[in-house]
Amino acid sequence: MFPMIRRIFLKHSLATSGGVLFSGRAFAADQPGGLPPGAMTQAEIAQARFPDGFLWGMATSSYQVEGAWNADGKGESIWDRFAHTPGKIRDGSNGDVACDQYHRYREDVALLKRLNQRSYRFSTSWPRVLPAGKGTVNQKGLDYYSRLADALLEAGIRPFCTIYHWDLPQALEDLGGWPNRDLADYYADFAAILARNLGDRITTWAPFNMPWTVAYEGYGTGNYPPGKADINLFLKAVHTLTLAQGKAFRAIKAASAKANVGSAYGTEPAYAKTDSQADQAAAERFHALHNVFFLEAAMRGEYPSAFPGPTPYEAMGFRLGDERIIQVPLDWIGIHYYFRFMVSARQPAAGDPNPMSQFRAEMGQAGPRTEAGWEIWPRAFYDLLMRISRDYNHPVIEITETGCTGDDKPDAAGRVSDPHRIEFYRQHLAALSRAIADGARVRAYHAWSLMDNFEWHHGFSRQYGLAYLDRQTQQRIVKDSGHWYARVASTNRLDA
Ligand code: FCB
Repeated sequence: MFPMIRRIFLKHSLATSGGVLFSGRAFAADQPGGLPPGAMTQAEIAQARFPDGFLWGMATSSYQVEGAWNADGKGESIWDRFAHTPGKIRDGSNGDVACDQYHRYREDVALLKRLNQRSYRFSTSWPRVLPAGKGTVNQKGLDYYSRLADALLEAGIRPFCTIYHWDLPQALEDLGGWPNRDLADYYADFAAILARNLGDRITTWAPFNMPWTVAYEGYGTGNYPPGKADINLFLKAVHTLTLAQGKAFRAIKAASAKANVGSAYGTEPAYAKTDSQADQAAAERFHALHNVFFLEAAMRGEYPSAFPGPTPYEAMGFRLGDERIIQVPLDWIGIHYYFRFMVSARQPAAGDPNPMSQFRAEMGQAGPRTEAGWEIWPRAFYDLLMRISRDYNHPVIEITETGCTGDDKPDAAGRVSDPHRIEFYRQHLAALSRAIADGARVRAYHAWSLMDNFEWHHGFSRQYGLAYLDRQTQQRIVKDSGHWYARVASTNRLDA
C-alpha cells in the first residue's frame, strides 16, 4: 500500500467516529405500565410535537412501483434479469407491472396530496433514462421524470429524487458492475443528465439508497442481483460506490446551483450483546462498517476503522488521490431505520477476507415483532439519531424510511384495518419527536411506503403500504394507517 495513503488513513485508526456506544441496557428494562421493552410511553406519544414546516412524506423506488419494465425504450435492469430468473423471487412474482406508477403517477400524486403529504421520495430508473447505462439518452424515459416532478410541484409536494435505488442497467453489469471502477464515471454522467434536465424543479437529491446493501448483498452474499458472492468483488464495489457518491455530488452541484445533496443510508443501530470489551469494540466496528462506512467516506474523506485488521485499500482498488474524490460535504444525511442488532465479537477463520466474519450480529430479541419477525424497538431510533447528530456535528437529517409489514386486506365493506401499523408509526414518531426536542435537526420523515409494492426477493409477499394495492385492478385503498398518518401530517401531533 502507498505510504502516504497509509499515513492519511492511520491518523484515525484507533478512533471510529468518536461517538458514544449505544446505550441498549438503559432501555432494555421493563417499562412502566406494562409497555413492551424498547417502547415509548403514552406520555411521550401524547406530548410529541413536530415543528411548523416539517416535511411529512412517503417513499417508493422505481423498480418497486413503476412497472412498464420495457416500455418506451427502457433498457433491462439487473432487477428485471433477476426477477425473470425462476426461483429468485419468493412468490414467483416480478416488477414487470408492479403498481404501474409509470402510467398512474397522476393518480398517485393526487393520493399523496389527499393524504396531506409534503414530500415524495421516489427513485429514477437508470436504464429508463440511459438504456445501456451510458451513451444515448432515452428522451421518453427522461420525460417521465419531468412529468412526475411537474405533477408533484403542482400538488405542492417536494420531489425528492433518489438517483439509484438498486436497478443498475444490465448492460453495465455486463461490463463488470459496481466492482468496475469505470462505473463511478458512468454514474456521475447519469446524475449530471438528471440534474441538468430536472434540476430547475428537483432540488433534493440522494445519489444512493443503501450503498452498503448494493455492495454486500449484490456482490458479497449474492442475495440480490447480480447475485455474485465474492468478497473481493464486494470490496471493489464498495470503493467504486464511494467514488461514485463523491463524483455524483460534484456533478449534480455543477449542473444545478439549487441542488441540495445528501444520501440515504440503511442503518441498524448496533448494541453490544454483553458488557465485555470485545463485544463493545465489535459493536463499534459493526456500526462503522454497516451503518456509516459510506457516510464517513463522504464527511471525512477516509474510511473508518471497521475491519479486524487494517483497511484493505489495495483489495478495494484504492488509488492515491481517491481520498479527495470521496470527500464531499453532504448537505444532509438520510437515515432509514427498521430494527437494531445485538453484536458480539467472533474470531474469523485465518485468512477470511470477509469483514462481516468478525461479528455475530442478531436482530434484537427482547421487543415485540412485526409480521415479518423484525423486532420493534423504537428507542433505538432515538439513540441512532442522537448519535448521528453528535458524531457529525449536528447535520440536517432526513428520515428516508421506516415502516412495517402486515398482511392487511380489505374487509367486506372495503376498509383496511391495520392498528398494528398505526401503533408502529406512533411509537417511532414519538422517538423521532423526542430526538428533535433533544437537538437532532430532522427536517423530514418518509414512511415506507405509499402503497403495497414489489418487495425485492420477497415479491408481493411482504406488504409495507399505507395504502393497499389491489393487483388485479390496480386500485389503491388507503388503509386506516394512511388516514391516521394524513392527520398526523396536518396537525404535527400523534394523538390527532
Ligand atoms: C429498505 C429498502 C426499501 C424497502 C424497505 C422495506 O431497505 O430501501 O426499498 O425494501 O427496505
